[in-house]
Amino acid sequence: MRKYMQIFQGTAFSSKSPKEIQVLKDHLFCINTEGMIERIIAPQDPDFQPLLDAYQGTDTFHRLAEGQYLLPGFIDLHVHAPQWAQSGTALDIPLYDWLNTYTFPLESKFSDLEFAKKVYEDVVSTLLANGTTTALYFATVHKEASILLAEICASKGQRGLVGKVVMDDPAQNPEYYRDADTSSALADTEEFILAVQALAKSAKQGVYPVVTPRFIPSCTDEGLRGLGELAAKYDTYVQSHCSESDWAHGYVQERFQKNDAFALHDFGLLRDKSVMAHCNFLDDEDVQLFAETGTAIAHCPVSNAYFANSVIPVAHFHAEGVEIGLGSDISGGFSPSLFDNIRQAVISSRMLEDGVNPSLPAKERGVPGSRITIHEAFYLATAGGGESLSLPIGRIEENYAWDVQIIDTKIPTAKLPIFDENEDLHDVFQKMMYLVRPENILEVWVQGERIHSR
Ligand code: GUN
Ligand code: FE
Repeated sequence: MRKYMQIFQGTAFSSKSPKEIQVLKDHLFCINTEGMIERIIAPQDPDFQPLLDAYQGTDTFHRLAEGQYLLPGFIDLHVHAPQWAQSGTALDIPLYDWLNTYTFPLESKFSDLEFAKKVYEDVVSTLLANGTTTALYFATVHKEASILLAEICASKGQRGLVGKVVMDDPAQNPEYYRDADTSSALADTEEFILAVQALAKSAKQGVYPVVTPRFIPSCTDEGLRGLGELAAKYDTYVQSHCSESDWAHGYVQERFQKNDAFALHDFGLLRDKSVMAHCNFLDDEDVQLFAETGTAIAHCPVSNAYFANSVIPVAHFHAEGVEIGLGSDISGGFSPSLFDNIRQAVISSRMLEDGVNPSLPAKERGVPGSRITIHEAFYLATAGGGESLSLPIGRIEENYAWDVQIIDTKIPTAKLPIFDENEDLHDVFQKMMYLVRPENILEVWVQGERIHSR
């Protein structure tokens, strides 16, 4: 009797540590009925040939062709699903103006469920086609449309963590786009949590509700406190923007005489299941607080280059024990691809490196130890994201979910420059990180199910 639901034969890349990848050359990957990797078998293992004999030729056996490789699916820790409708536009103005001129008017349209369905179906499909198997989404203030986004993730098979956005302060948010008042914001959030938890029962890959104060400036003290209580009551994920722009950082300082991190902590919003986007202005105490509470950072390198003129010191935060993953921040970041964000994370980190600009005085040249490698950036998009969410995802390892992308380096319209069939696989890996386009992403699997193919 064959016990596995699927068996794959091929070469896979996965992070061993932030700095090191593991290459599993021509292994067998055995997937059980729960969609988890039950066994990984090396070619020299005595079980290799008998298993191959038992499964080869059946429709549960998948052998990757030459030039095809397995990567873990990407984990996008920060996406504004409604903003997909304006991706690529209006990136040349400050955050505050961008929010009021473009973003809030767009998000207000998601009271219309027809419009919401069109955009949300497209953003989930687009992220899947770009290799993103798990996404942590901001929806809008609208409860119904936010539930719809979770339903779309569930039906398309993406692992979705979804938040109904809370903006309950009438003094800070436009009348046409905010919660009616604090008590309805909290009641809607609670109903949203219950609805998504009910939906989760029939989604094998998992969908999760996320408590989502947009950012401190959008919310009243009472709203923030209530959200912290709901997160504790239902043991949910929490997401927000933390210390993103000069403007937001200054606003929080003025209101609370402290940084975002401690203000959020006072309201119970820094938990092991919290993910804070951006974090451009964390001081040493904030970093300690993140490490102690298990709060993770969603690093958004493309968006930070546009809105914050900033690069976070990833290597330093890692050394302090903070979990970090990668976020596209659609549409503050224009790209739905975490490949693009991996590339930008490396490029940006080199801009921050000490000595990058010899024309500046030494202390203004950058931050020593900022530079990260392509391996570290890959870690952020995969294993780091999984650790940030405390889920067994982001690695091709036993007891992790079978969330993978199959990369084809030989697609005629997007062929990678690999001319030697015996090229070192570490070099192949780097070429994939820098050169893969959506055309190269042949198949995407989540929790043992194929949910996208070209
Ligand atoms: N701060 C508050 N809202 C937003 C948003 O939608 N995008 C970004 N990048 N920052 C924010
Ligand atoms: Fe954002």
